Amino acid sequence: MINRRQFLQITGAGAAGLLTGSMTSLISAGRANAAEPGSSGFAPDLDIDLKAAADTIPILPGDPTGVWRFQGRMTKGDRASLVDIERSYLGPIIRARRGQKVRIRFTNEIADQTIVHWHGLHVPADMDGHPRLVIPRGETYVYEFEVRNRAGTYWYHPHPHGLTGPQVYGGLAGLFLVSDDEEEAAGLPSGEHDIPLVLQDRAFDRHNQLVYQSGHHMEQMNGFLGDWILVNGHPDFSLPVATRAYRLRLLNGSNARIYKLAWKDGNPLTVIGTDGGLLEKPVQRPYVMLGPGERLELWADFSSYEVGSGTELVSLPFDGGMLGGGRMGRGMMGGGGYVLANGAGFPVFKVKVNRHESETSTLPQRLSTIQRYDPADAINRENPKRFHLVMRHMAWTINGRTFQMEQVASDERVALNSLEVWEFINEGGGRGMMGGMDMPHPIHLHGMQFQVLQRRGVSHQGYVDEGWKDTVLLMPGERVRLLVRFGDYPGLYLYHCHNLEHEDLGMMRNFLVEETTSAA
Ligand code: C2O
Ligand code: CU
Ligand code: CU
Repeated sequence: MINRRQFLQITGAGAAGLLTGSMTSLISAGRANAAEPGSSGFAPDLDIDLKAAADTIPILPGDPTGVWRFQGRMTKGDRASLVDIERSYLGPIIRARRGQKVRIRFTNEIADQTIVHWHGLHVPADMDGHPRLVIPRGETYVYEFEVRNRAGTYWYHPHPHGLTGPQVYGGLAGLFLVSDDEEEAAGLPSGEHDIPLVLQDRAFDRHNQLVYQSGHHMEQMNGFLGDWILVNGHPDFSLPVATRAYRLRLLNGSNARIYKLAWKDGNPLTVIGTDGGLLEKPVQRPYVMLGPGERLELWADFSSYEVGSGTELVSLPFDGGMLGGGRMGRGMMGGGGYVLANGAGFPVFKVKVNRHESETSTLPQRLSTIQRYDPADAINRENPKRFHLVMRHMAWTINGRTFQMEQVASDERVALNSLEVWEFINEGGGRGMMGGMDMPHPIHLHGMQFQVLQRRGVSHQGYVDEGWKDTVLLMPGERVRLLVRFGDYPGLYLYHCHNLEHEDLGMMRNFLVEETTSAA
C-alpha cells in the first residue's frame, strides 16, 4: 500500500476540484410535485425536511473539504428517528418502523438537478426517485410512503441521470434503517451496540478537496476508485468496543469499489443479514464480497479479547478485472492513475477493545422467517428473462441497450403482482486492445427485494445469497437467476449496474410494472 503523503502528491497533480460555487443557500421556491401535504389525507408518523446543500467539513488534517450533504430536520415524530452521524458528510440516519407513514420534503439546494432514491425500499413508482422526476435547485419534492419493508439496512442517495456518480461521491448518501417486531424478538445487540458502518473511497487533492476525474473515458469505464478508505466519512477509522457482542451493519456506499471483507485474524465472518434484512439463521463465511450498493450485517463478538487488544476488518486482494491492466493492485499506468486498484488489499477499519463488559450475549440461532418463493409459481419459470451485461462500442450495456428516460422494451414489461425469473449474465466484453474487458457488475433492481435462485460460473465462497437482496454482484463469467415479485405498485422502475459510473454511462434500463386487466 502506498502511504498517504505519496498519494496526495499523485492525486494533487492535475486534479480538478469537484465542488466549486454553489455555496449560496436558496430559499425553496417551488414544489415539484403537486398537492399540498395533507390534502391527500396522508397522515405521516414521521415528517422530515431534508435538503441537499453544499457544506464544508474537516475530513483530513488541515483544510476542510467542500462536500454536498443531506441535512434533515424532524417536523413531526420521534426525535430519535433522525440521527446525525457526528462530523460526517453523510446524511442523517433515518429510522422508521415497519408500518409507519413517512413524509419527506426534499429540497434541492445544490446547483445541479437531483432527486432522491430510497435504495431497497418498496415504494410507489412516483416515490422511488426515478431520474425523470429530477428537480432543479430551489424546488421541493414531497415523498409520502408507508414503510412496508422488513427490518433492515436500507439507504438513500441521489438518482439524476448521468450525475448519480458525482453527487454520491460529493457526499450525498445516508442510511434508512427499518425496525420491526420480528427483529426485536431476535434479541440482537441494540442501541450503542448496533453500529452502522458506511464504506466509501475518495481521492483528495493537496488542498484536501475531493477529486472526481470525470471525463476520462477509461476511468468511467472502470468506475471511480479513490485511495482513501473512509468509514462513516472518516479516514483511518477505528471502532472502540467493549468485550461483548455487536451488530455491525455494513453498507458499501462506494461508487465502484468492491470489498472482499474478512477479519484480519482469520476468524470467519458471522453474517446475520443482507440487503433486505435478517437472515433466517446466522451463516459463516471466510470472507464476503460486497459490491457497491450491497449491505451486510455481522455479528461480531469481542468477549474473548483482552482489553487493549483488537483486530481489523480488511479487504483481501482479488482479481478486480479492471480495464487497462490494473489488476491485483498494480494500478493503472497512465490515464486514470489509480493507486488503489479494484482488487487491491487494504485495511478497512480497526477494532480497539478498550473496556471490559461482562455482558455476555449469545448468538441467536433463529433470526427471522423468510418466506421462500416457489420457482414453480414463476410465470416464466421455463423461460427466464435474460439480461446480458456486455460492452458495445466502448459502452456498458444491458442486452445491448443503454438508458433512455422513458423507454421500455417488450422484455422489460412485467405484470403487477407476478413472480418472475430474471437471469443476469456477465459475459464481459471479450479481449480488446486494452486487455481484458471483463468487469464485475453489481446489479440492482429498484422497488423490489428478490431471492437468488441460482448462480453459475465462477462462484465465490464469499456470496451471501440466503436472504433478501436488492443488489447482486456478478463477477466476469457469472450468471445469476433471481426470483422477483413485482408486488403492490404499478409504474416505472429501474434496474441497473450499481457501479455508479457504469450507471451514469447508461448501464441502466426501465422496467414497467403493468396492471393487467384480466377478463375474468
Ligand atoms: Cu442505489 Cu438506482 O440505486
Ligand atoms: Cu435502488
Ligand atoms: Cu457495471
